[in-house]
Amino acid sequence: MCGIIGYVGRKDACPILVEGLRRLQYRGYDSAGIAVLDGGKLEVRKKKGKLDEGLVALLRAQPVAGPLGIGHTRWATHGPPSDENSHPHLDQSGKIAIVHNGVIENCDRLKRALAAEGHVFVSATDTEVLAHLIGKHYEAKAASPGAERLTQAVCDALREVIGTYGIAVICSDLPDVMVGARRGSPLIIGIGEGENFLTSDANAIVAHTRQAVFLNDYDVATVTRERFDVQNLGADTAQVQISRLEFEAQDAERGAYPHFMLKEIFEQPRAVENALRGRIDAEGATARFGGLNMSAGELRDVERIVIAATGTSWHAALVGEYLIEELAHLPVEVEFAHEFYNRNAPLQRDTVLLVISQSGETADTLGALREAKRRGHRVLSICNVVGSTVAREADGGIYMHAGPEIGVASTKAFTSMLVILSLLAVHLGRMRMLSVHRALEILRGLEAIPKQIESLLAQTAAIKKLALKYAQARDFFFLSRGYTYPIALEGALKLKEISYIHAEGYSAAEMKHGPIALIDPATPTVFLVPKDSMYEKTMANLAMIRARKGPIIAVATEGDTDIASACDDVIYLPATQEPLYPILATIPLQLFAYEIAVARGCDVDKPRNLAKSVTVE
Ligand code: G6P
Repeated sequence: MCGIIGYVGRKDACPILVEGLRRLQYRGYDSAGIAVLDGGKLEVRKKKGKLDEGLVALLRAQPVAGPLGIGHTRWATHGPPSDENSHPHLDQSGKIAIVHNGVIENCDRLKRALAAEGHVFVSATDTEVLAHLIGKHYEAKAASPGAERLTQAVCDALREVIGTYGIAVICSDLPDVMVGARRGSPLIIGIGEGENFLTSDANAIVAHTRQAVFLNDYDVATVTRERFDVQNLGADTAQVQISRLEFEAQDAERGAYPHFMLKEIFEQPRAVENALRGRIDAEGATARFGGLNMSAGELRDVERIVIAATGTSWHAALVGEYLIEELAHLPVEVEFAHEFYNRNAPLQRDTVLLVISQSGETADTLGALREAKRRGHRVLSICNVVGSTVAREADGGIYMHAGPEIGVASTKAFTSMLVILSLLAVHLGRMRMLSVHRALEILRGLEAIPKQIESLLAQTAAIKKLALKYAQARDFFFLSRGYTYPIALEGALKLKEISYIHAEGYSAAEMKHGPIALIDPATPTVFLVPKDSMYEKTMANLAMIRARKGPIIAVATEGDTDIASACDDVIYLPATQEPLYPILATIPLQLFAYEIAVARGCDVDKPRNLAKSVTVE
């Protein structure tokens, strides 16, 4: 949610900032801007709209150059998308520029106080208030030397602020200084040679450096071209650890694919292999994980698991509930992360909170994690982004190793989550009652998944045909029961996210208790009906839709000879173990949503109103 990039070095900052913003666009894309210190003067260029049509076009007409600068790509919170509300924002003197992710909650009060002192604001944003506050403290510190003066002004301003922030600040008095700070919004220092970076996301700097420091909450960093210093607003010393960024810059590039989403759909065989790599213990008929930081005895003593997540990750959590309850006989409750921590949900002793997050930065999910930790519960995480806040704050965790996911609609991260949850269920199950035989069936089933996904991807042309047939529908249902019920929810979410067609995911069984009233010949239903233990019941539900003349696209298992005559169109899945159908059934639904969105001319990678990583509550 909003992306930040900052550069200090000897090169021209502008192309580095613009390229960084290009890689950050998936974090927000309603406007973009940069501030560059050009000949001792702060030059700001910012524009509503997507990067190329907005900022890049503006820079062509009004170029800027200089070796210090900050940039921002925005997802609006305070104030609608507009040129004025775009970042960077300046302070009253025009000497200080700031980019900001997050929300300043007490901004109205601060703004009133500053206005009473004569400050004049030109935008509706909370960020401009923070810029003015920093500027005010900077003026008050005229006696302090250079960089120290700016850093202290930032610290003093942040002490007055309630809310969340990841910021980068520059000042026209200081041609070799950037100050960054974080609370609740990620910020990373990229360490180069004779140059340094600040960014909200390693993607933006990985082409320049592999050395990075992931800042912690309340850290304030002073970054020059040769060095960086970190202090912490809440502690005597800051914990600074230099990490290596492991992925390649081209992992985050689109290559020959027309969209990141399609690229990431096609990366799923490899992503599943990466999620499985080294984790199958065939001899012990179990799975193994390096980072859970819990002994077998401690895991054995877990009495209950609460899984907290949002969006697509929440759908993965629902599949996790089915998996862990069946294979490990452990009670699982799935919570929207925000509902969980805002309502003070009771947690029994011996309950572990498991949080699932692709980005590891979702504010709601972090809120759940911190609430459970505050209450003394152990928290485990499943994350994709290495070094993310969730991964660092959890007591133990499992990385997906799916590689950077750039498309806003989550695809490969989702199937990776399902793979890891399957492994985790086997691991927990084998400590309890899961037989060697059943565990091996699941593990072998998992090993076959990458090839099976490939066979589904080979059906893209047929799925596209189907998508074109239904692309003009105004409403859709996605229905299923059992293990694939959460996939019906996910299929509906994918479609609405990127094609803006109204789609409802529902339990096929629950349908008859109300929503069936909406079925008519213009409302197609995607029915997930694999050959599993629910098959007959789901088929009976399917017949109810058919009887009301609702068009039906079935997702069924190869060899099912009854299905074709019961519906309008069929997509066939290879046969697998019942708990693994969610992974396979997801693939055609991703392709279906993608092809419909493309057919409707939607911007698949940057759907309206959405952001990939939502770092505000
Ligand atoms: C946002 C995205 C969703 C994503 C959700 C959770 O809402 O638009 O696609 O599923 O956040 O993200 P996370 O990074 O925590 O998995």
